[in-house]
Amino acid sequence: MGLPVIPFGTPQSLDTDPAALDLLARGPVARVRFGADGPEGWLVLGYQAARQVMTDPRFSREAAMTAATPKSSTASDAPDVLSNQDAPNHTRVRRLMAKAFTPRRVDAFAPTVQRIIDQLLDDVEAHGAPADLLGLFAAPLPIKVICELMGVPDMDVTRMRDWAEKLMAVYLYSPEQILAAQDDLQAYLNELIEHKRANLAEDVTTALVQARDEGDRLSHAELVINLQSLLVAGHETTVNQLANGIVTLSRHPEQFDKLKADLDLVPGAVHEIMRYVKFSNADLPRTAVEDVELGGQLIRAGDTVTLPPHMPNRDPEAFENPNVFDVTRANADDHLSFTYGPHYCLGAHLANTELRLALRSVLARFPKLQVAVPDDQLVWKDGMIVRALRELPVSW
Ligand code: HEM
Repeated sequence: MGLPVIPFGTPQSLDTDPAALDLLARGPVARVRFGADGPEGWLVLGYQAARQVMTDPRFSREAAMTAATPKSSTASDAPDVLSNQDAPNHTRVRRLMAKAFTPRRVDAFAPTVQRIIDQLLDDVEAHGAPADLLGLFAAPLPIKVICELMGVPDMDVTRMRDWAEKLMAVYLYSPEQILAAQDDLQAYLNELIEHKRANLAEDVTTALVQARDEGDRLSHAELVINLQSLLVAGHETTVNQLANGIVTLSRHPEQFDKLKADLDLVPGAVHEIMRYVKFSNADLPRTAVEDVELGGQLIRAGDTVTLPPHMPNRDPEAFENPNVFDVTRANADDHLSFTYGPHYCLGAHLANTELRLALRSVLARFPKLQVAVPDDQLVWKDGMIVRALRELPVSW
């Protein structure tokens, strides 16, 4: 029998691919082929093995950023983006970024997030049922939040959203269109940085401009690329995780009812949504720079190891009955959907805050909320790295 070929699933479905679950049942690390006629490499499925890859410097992101590395998506290879770097470059930039993007700053920002949520829910209510919760609420929320956090004026939010969407829709636009969007966005960010230098404000852009670490600081080019990555990383992911979370709840009515009856379960439910929902097809490849023993397999120097972050969330060694969606699961926040170790999502606290406040506010405002069309009539977007609905009709 030939090697399993990845990617397995279609980008549209929210489900974890049965073929991937079968492989996980056979072991934590599998030898696979990237595309029917593609090269061979390794797929990491098990929880402990995934944490090892995420923390062991012998698995390099930088070394994987070459055209030769097989990938199941065409996500950005840009070498100066934080998530594509290794120590010491990564450590240095990440430390400076973390000075601007602190949990304290995010917590202080929570009332602003709540204000944006309340305004958007007013729009949903004014529209009346059925309403598209994606278009009226889940899609505008994260972009408004990230723009407010970055100090981008309201009138520019629509442009920022357009750029962020183009940069994520890697199967939908040509490389030229994506490059053009990136050029426009970077020209805008150049101006924003210059403006903040001259007019210091209480926002992340100003904090990044000012961030210092023992005399070190971000260069202008680093500022631009990392502001861009905050925008892109912070937008589509959160939009879709919110909408996909509501779809997942409605596919599990007894769990949805439990949550509606006790909104104090919302923080745990958000962790469980993050654990359970496959949100992305990005596979975060790394290249072994030495021979490494991993999950009972010998990975040779130069081999590609790919790591879909949702698969370890289905490992029974880490989660009891992992394929069951349970909003009261005690250890749901051990999930690896934000990864683990040095690349742990810089925006995880912001994403959790947004998702928690949003889900709680939606259910407080519309206690009888339900998806207004049968599951098989939901329409999914093609061409995205993330799993994305076109619209989410709800009634209440
Ligand atoms: C539900 C929402 C989100 C999900 C599922 C998510 C997921 C991820 C994942 C899987 C990574 C690791 C990438 C890698 O190892 O290469 C990551 C990194 C990152 N995320 Fe998020 N993210 C979310 C929201 C956000 C938000 C709101 C922001 C910021 C505004 C953000 C900013 C970042 C940044 C800057 C990195 C790079 C960190 C590093 O490499 O050191 N993310 N995120």
